Amino acid sequence: MSLLRLDKFLADAGLGTRSQVKLLLKKGLVTVNGEAAKKPEQKVDPENDFILCGGTSLSRQEFYYYLLNKPAGYVSATEDNTAPTVLSLLKDAPGRELFPVGRLDKDTEGLLLVTNDGPLAHRLLSPRYHVDKTYLVRAAGIVTESDLSSLENGLDIGEKSPTLPAKARLLALQSDSTPASQKAGSGQETSLVELTIHEGKFHQVKRMFQAIGHPVLYLRRISMGNLVLDEALAPGEFRALTPEEIVALKAL
Ligand code: URA
Repeated sequence: MSLLRLDKFLADAGLGTRSQVKLLLKKGLVTVNGEAAKKPEQKVDPENDFILCGGTSLSRQEFYYYLLNKPAGYVSATEDNTAPTVLSLLKDAPGRELFPVGRLDKDTEGLLLVTNDGPLAHRLLSPRYHVDKTYLVRAAGIVTESDLSSLENGLDIGEKSPTLPAKARLLALQSDSTPASQKAGSGQETSLVELTIHEGKFHQVKRMFQAIGHPVLYLRRISMGNLVLDEALAPGEFRALTPEEIVALKAL
């Protein structure tokens, strides 16, 4: 049983920011096990307490949906012996048997959906549904127009068939011209590319960039279907999906 502050529980349930939910509490709209609850610091057990806001039940939810900004260094798994898992970042989040929907590599950052809704996860990951996933990629070297066309038209990454058509956009070219790197003769050009793919093969983005000769130096997922990485979330932070986001995800 993990106890949570009531204001955090309400904010995680999508009722607004901590200060917005304090107003709901002040107005006497929230009850815990039938008793009006006005104190934001009251501890609740989301699994067992019966929590209502304006008469709507917030607890004993069957399915929970969280948008996590995955930091580098965490593995997308429920258990691992070698590194912390993304689930360790959600240890105080209400919901039993949460799991990440798909995988981001240990060194990849960004949007990861975490839920306990198995059927939805299955649909989102199924190759039949082709859910769009957009990544911000910093790649070594100068990615040319012809490289972008190769990324878009399909590449041999060692699978049975080439990658499916994708969208690739060059956002910026950068050169590491810090005095230290110039002195060391290690100044390096890099390219910032936005890539949208509709499949999710193992290490797909890294293998696509490897195939065009521009290894990935940094990778962040910024959207999946209708879900967009919330810039207000620092790496390691998460929030509950809003009801609108859940409805739109289910409609994909
Ligand atoms: N493609 C990759 O290569 N790595 C990820 O983490 C996600 C997509």
